[in-house]
Amino acid sequence: MRVCVVTGGGGVRIGSGICRALAGQGRTVVVADQDLEAAELVVEELRAAGATAVAMRLDVTDADSVREVVAATVTAYGQVDAWVNSAGVGLRKRGAEATPEEFDQLHAINYRGAWTCIREVVPVMLENGGGGIVNIGSVHAAGAAGTFTLYAATKAALAALTRGIARDYGRQNLRCNIVHPGAVEARGNEHLLADFVASKQMLPTAVEAIDIGNAVAFLLSPEARAITGVELFVDAGTTAMLFEQ
Ligand SMILES: NC(=O)c1ccc[n+]([C@@H]2O[C@H](COP(=O)([O-])OP(=O)(O)OC[C@H]3O[C@@H](n4cnc5c(N)ncnc54)[C@H](O)[C@@H]3O)[C@@H](O)[C@H]2O)c1
Repeated sequence: MRVCVVTGGGGVRIGSGICRALAGQGRTVVVADQDLEAAELVVEELRAAGATAVAMRLDVTDADSVREVVAATVTAYGQVDAWVNSAGVGLRKRGAEATPEEFDQLHAINYRGAWTCIREVVPVMLENGGGGIVNIGSVHAAGAAGTFTLYAATKAALAALTRGIARDYGRQNLRCNIVHPGAVEARGNEHLLADFVASKQMLPTAVEAIDIGNAVAFLLSPEARAITGVELFVDAGTTAMLFEQ
């Protein structure tokens, strides 16, 4: 898993954390984001730490844009070994109060966008003898929290897509897994989660972006070669917790 593409890799919260973890393990990282300036900032940091990284503009809702990133990665590095679907957006509204436009936008990025990336990169991986895909879901895929209704549905769909892709291409040595993060803030802003940590986690410290990145890096490593189609919760116990004592 030498060459890894991270969609939404310019993100100040989870996206950049994933890039840092992969770069820290010596992988080549393509930081692909709709916000090219944000991606370039992450690349600057990774390169300063000695990593090989490049920024590319990507809009996951546009199949041509995805195709270009896949092609540019192959041109630059010869292959795409791993792909992380982290680009995503949220929505806080009760289910019957969201508009059709909001519904479509959520699905276009969180679900259809991830599928478009998979659709474009899988043939390239198969030609290369296999590969690894990690989708970024959410704890909301597994339980209801008020106003996250439509967002949660996109992440549950992504979990089902993950299992299906793992099944469809497992025999061709392609693994596909999903990481479900708990609440994560940008580096340095973890204190903003103090109330959440105190009441909605089993563990006493905030989940950091690097924790999500480390889980992703593990799933893309040879040590995880027997793991596919799984949902890995990196949430300090949020999902497993029924209620406080
Ligand atoms: N932060 C959390 O607490 C949390 C919790 C659970 C799941 N997640 C999931 O983690 C992922 C990252 O979210 P985050 O909140 O950490 O944000 P983030 O800070 O990683 O930023 C998200 C990035 O996605 C990019 N993006 C948005 N639309 C795009 C598009 N159409 N094409 C390409 N890039 C696009 C943005 O430019 C941004 O850089 C999302 O899938 C989100 O649903 C986040």
